[in-house]
Amino acid sequence: MKEKIESLRESISSAIDEAVTGRGLYELKVKFQTELKGIMSGMKDLPKEERPTFGKVVNEFKQAMEELFEARAVVVRKMELEAQYEKERVDITMPGKSYKAGALHPITLVKNELIDIFAGMGFKVFEGPEIETDYYNFTALNTPKDHPARDMQDTFYLADNLLLRTQTSAGQIRVMEKNAPPIKILSPGRVFRSDDDATHSPMFHQMEGLVVDKGITLCDLQGMLAEFARKMFTSSTKVRLRPSYFPFTEPSVEVDLSCSECGGKGCRLCKGTGWIEVLGAGMVNRRVLENCGVDPDEYTGFAFGMGIERIAMLKYGVNNIKTLFENDTRFLEQFED
Ligand code: DAH
Repeated sequence: MKEKIESLRESISSAIDEAVTGRGLYELKVKFQTELKGIMSGMKDLPKEERPTFGKVVNEFKQAMEELFEARAVVVRKMELEAQYEKERVDITMPGKSYKAGALHPITLVKNELIDIFAGMGFKVFEGPEIETDYYNFTALNTPKDHPARDMQDTFYLADNLLLRTQTSAGQIRVMEKNAPPIKILSPGRVFRSDDDATHSPMFHQMEGLVVDKGITLCDLQGMLAEFARKMFTSSTKVRLRPSYFPFTEPSVEVDLSCSECGGKGCRLCKGTGWIEVLGAGMVNRRVLENCGVDPDEYTGFAFGMGIERIAMLKYGVNNIKTLFENDTRFLEQFED
């Protein structure tokens, strides 16, 4: 019996020393307990007087082995933790994953710049709805149903009297209806027309301006546009007004700026003329003022409307309007700060 215990002590204790995992140690303990049970079951074959001594020896052996198991468990746990830490080690000196931050779209950049320039001249921003009634978009702007000028703006109708606004000019009416002069507003926004080629998109952006007060003249319009041209393009940019026609202004003008590319000498961009057409404007037609309850004998005003894409294309040298809406990041990245 004694030999059996001694050989078990030897084999188990050396196996304990070799155990490197909690699982291995546990399996070893189960094996030890099974063998110990076998030894204890031999007790009944011993003479009665030897049994107490044998019991004592077995108990001491059991206790000693359990102490060995416990001590090794502490060591094994530490080894396992160290292995786990090693496996999960993070090299904090490695470069991290970089996430690209977004940036403002060139149309937004130009829109913000326009607002900044005109806000500096005292304009306030008013944003009208993109779905408009026929009245605000056309009729109140002196463009009744059978007016030939309606042909200039191919319209997306949603219902008989409801449409996607074709021009931010609709905002002029909304502002004048609700506010008595003096009025000085800027109205940016999306507009829609059934039109699609290299310089036209069915959705684009306009910036409308409206000033109504006593004694406003075409000279005020010209002076203000000169200031805008110098700030938006270069300090030497000149403004030229050409007679034109819009139902809501009288007189109406087409506004050209001296070509920023060649400085007015004539180049491909300005088609050799030295001038580039940028916006429409004029003195607010008396009928429009009347439609909004403003007395045209007391007040006069000027209005202007420009395409934000057009300004952006001129400013950044973009020759196809579609590149502004494709959202190709290789194009957009060029406008990041
Ligand atoms: N609404 C015109 C258009 O979309 C542009 C325009 C011309 C606006 C003259 C005006 C203006 O306010 O006075 O073609």
